[in-house]
Amino acid sequence: MSEELTREIKKRRTFAIISHPDAGKTTLTEKLLLYGGAIHLAGSIKSRKTQRHAVSDWMEIEKQRGISVTSSVLQFDYDGCRINILDTPGHQDFSEDTYRTLMAVDSAVMVLDAAKGVETQTKKLFKVCSERHIPIFTFVNKLDRFGKAPIDLMDELENVLGIRSYPMNWPVGSDGRYRGVYDRQTKKVELFEADETHGQKARESAVYELDSDELKEKLDEETYQALLDDITLLDEAGEDFDLEKVAHGDLTPMFFGSAMTNFGVQNFLEEYLRLAPPPAPRLSSEGVIEPEDEKFSAFVFKIQANMNPAHRDRLAFIRIVSGKFERNMSVWHAQENKAIKLAQPQQFLAQDRQIIDTAYPGDIVGLFDPGVFGIGDTLCDAGKKFKFADFPVFPPEKFARVQAKDTMKRKQFVKGIEQLTQEGAIQLFQQAGAGTESYIVGTVGTLQFDVLQYRLKSEYNVDIELTMQPYEVARWMQYEDGHEVTPTSLRGADRGMFVYDRHGYPVLLVSNEWALGWITDNNPDLQLYPVPPDR
Ligand code: G4P
Repeated sequence: MSEELTREIKKRRTFAIISHPDAGKTTLTEKLLLYGGAIHLAGSIKSRKTQRHAVSDWMEIEKQRGISVTSSVLQFDYDGCRINILDTPGHQDFSEDTYRTLMAVDSAVMVLDAAKGVETQTKKLFKVCSERHIPIFTFVNKLDRFGKAPIDLMDELENVLGIRSYPMNWPVGSDGRYRGVYDRQTKKVELFEADETHGQKARESAVYELDSDELKEKLDEETYQALLDDITLLDEAGEDFDLEKVAHGDLTPMFFGSAMTNFGVQNFLEEYLRLAPPPAPRLSSEGVIEPEDEKFSAFVFKIQANMNPAHRDRLAFIRIVSGKFERNMSVWHAQENKAIKLAQPQQFLAQDRQIIDTAYPGDIVGLFDPGVFGIGDTLCDAGKKFKFADFPVFPPEKFARVQAKDTMKRKQFVKGIEQLTQEGAIQLFQQAGAGTESYIVGTVGTLQFDVLQYRLKSEYNVDIELTMQPYEVARWMQYEDGHEVTPTSLRGADRGMFVYDRHGYPVLLVSNEWALGWITDNNPDLQLYPVPPDR
């Protein structure tokens, strides 16, 4: 095993920040970059931020495509570590993209609003992380404002998410009016000081020994005593710190701070880097692939088309799993079953993208994609052909018939829709017996239809007609004996819509589980799958 590879792997931390919209993910990301020296004045990401209304956001992203991409993968160095932050869109209709992004990380930072605690989107994202045993670090944000009692937040994590927490620091102050935090490791107290820059620059902090007179002077007696009591309680009755448990996602180190005022951010970053795991192995058809394996391997977790509409380019984002990546290297593309050359690889440094020559496990590289890559594809050394396992596919729940308004534009329509399908945000079906002038498109959320409509217009100049279909469940079908399911062989096919996926596999769309029950009861030899079965 080469020393260089081992050294580079150890240095890397690849993670995503997950949160319910508005908890402060964007602000925290920006502050991490600020401390990492990757940006000098906070506000640069924030001002381009996209949230509020998701479709208009998307259009905004469209306008600033380069920026949205660079901010979806950010790399910077801090204290000898190389940090890769993967952004996850906040809107729930984008969650499929988010889930996929989580496949590419080694840990996650969960941001909670101190006043709101665990919210709906937090729960969903947490579930994906915990199912995969991704280590989770919790940052309780907005400590500069009134918030829930820290002990209640710990209970909430345990009762709502089912994870125990270990507070690394502890808020000082009573009734949700916080004055600062106590660091359980250094046993020092850091108090908020007036901040003249409104959080734009890294903050000077005032730190006091726990038993110092200065601290006692700064805090009223009741607050000081309450702090001492809390510390005793935590030390005596709290969970022990256990890095093993953190690594399995069974215990979450919990930090309190305020991203906006930079309070507790640097300390969080340093502790996080100390405790978070370096790049993890991944499971493949040939068993576990360790990052230290000299043979290169990676998988595609995100595809984004037409980053620059003028050039019609597409980027496939790969996460490197093992070995060293080198520009122009030749690798085996497992799904296409052929060798390809990785030219023009790009990496994303704060707000710039640049061509890179080398990269290591944990890194994210953007590859120009002439239309050959699909989500979940494996790239590996030609001498060791395998596929990474376990890439999630999400069952579509919304369906619409889509066709070009102007039949003369059919060619662009087909091209556009196929390319957007490859990005993975929509799934494409063809109704059995129908002509090719229309498609059935399946998505996880309705927002994707707006995005589809918008993008076909802006990138391919095609207006589409979209008719929502009354189905909410899709099932891939096959008979137990391997016989192909056809519209005539299936009893009750007319109770839903019989379609084929883009690989020609039969799928039935029905309105609900009840309708599905009828199909199952009346076709005893039929096997149904919520996602495409492996072929
Ligand atoms: P998100 O990416 O998770 O959606 O959240 P974002 O960072 O955009 O933060 C949501 C709102 O919360 C923003 O306010 C942001 O300024 C505020 N915020 C973030 N961290 C803190 C904090 O530590 N303390 C306090 N008090 N507020 C915080 P906004 O009014 O929606 O936007 P803006 O006017 O600040 O741009």
